[in-house]
Amino acid sequence: MKFKVMGVTAGRKNSNSEILLKEALLACQEQGAEVTMINLKDYNLLDCTGCTSCTMGMSLGKNTGCSLKDKDDKDKIMKVMLDQDAVIFSAPTYALMPSSLFLKFMHRNLAYESAFLTKIGAIAPRDRVGALIAVGGSTRSWQSMALECMQVTTVTNSFKVVDMFMATQVPAPAQVLLHDEMLARANEIGRNVMKALNTPAAERKWLGDPEAGWCPNCHSNCLCLGEKQWGGLQYPIECAVCGAGGDLEKTEDGKWKFVIAANGLERDRTTEEGRGVHCDEIADVQGGFFADPEKRKAVEERLPKYTKITFKGI
Ligand SMILES: Cc1cc2nc3c(=O)[nH]c(=O)nc-3n(C[C@H](O)[C@H](O)[C@H](O)COP(=O)(O)O)c2cc1C
Repeated sequence: MKFKVMGVTAGRKNSNSEILLKEALLACQEQGAEVTMINLKDYNLLDCTGCTSCTMGMSLGKNTGCSLKDKDDKDKIMKVMLDQDAVIFSAPTYALMPSSLFLKFMHRNLAYESAFLTKIGAIAPRDRVGALIAVGGSTRSWQSMALECMQVTTVTNSFKVVDMFMATQVPAPAQVLLHDEMLARANEIGRNVMKALNTPAAERKWLGDPEAGWCPNCHSNCLCLGEKQWGGLQYPIECAVCGAGGDLEKTEDGKWKFVIAANGLERDRTTEEGRGVHCDEIADVQGGFFADPEKRKAVEERLPKYTKITFKGI
């Protein structure tokens, strides 16, 4: 059976993100994968309206789908994307994070949340491999949230990210072609995706640099101070991407290290079990609001004060 591998990019046509993605996909094709590739610029994609009908439905045990389902190309793309064994995402970095086109597309994934839909029995669980390529004109310093934002948007559909690559200092169109080492690294991304696909799902592991990033769980480079979470759980330090909890410790050679606590992966967002806790949180906090007539009435009474206020627009 041929593995299906898809490339999804949000970069300029014939430019850096597209080129690196094609290089990665070529490696997959060479190993026999059936390859599909799209550039999100070719599609009509609407912004999530924030209607939350998808999560409201899920918290009531129903798969209501997206309210924009027949209004743009998202559902058509998702039918193909969710039928892949692996997807490689590439996006240009704008203002330290992935471009708004990439984020617009990925934020619409909530209606297809595999942990929530699996939990209510609407879909069967499926293992998927993912890999990420971020491209920017500057160094990591100016791409500090690029891979992190990309990665967290892929967890919604349970992509197990096995490798990620940040191409730095390639601002001009197709400038990456001057860097054979970057093309080689993109090719390695493709080979690592194939390596993961050829490994039983339960044994798939991170295949990038073992030392990459702060977080030993998801390899993000982004930590934050922990605050009390839903249900009272709190860690001194959290990974901003996967939510692993732990603390900073000094190693013998005087460097700081993020050490995950014994219960630090209880709410690991990269797992369906971890995101299932978030599903319970939504059912409690959002579902609890809609189910409580007192709360709804209080909001209805207080809202007119603000709907009546208008300020000069432009
Ligand atoms: C609006 C805008 C914001 C940008 N912000 C950043 C940035 O914060 N960091 C960075 O490294 N590059 C930034 N860039 C540069 C792009 O990431 C760079 O041109 C990249 O090569 C684009 O990828 P592409 O050729 O695949 O479209 C920005 C470019 C634009 C147009």
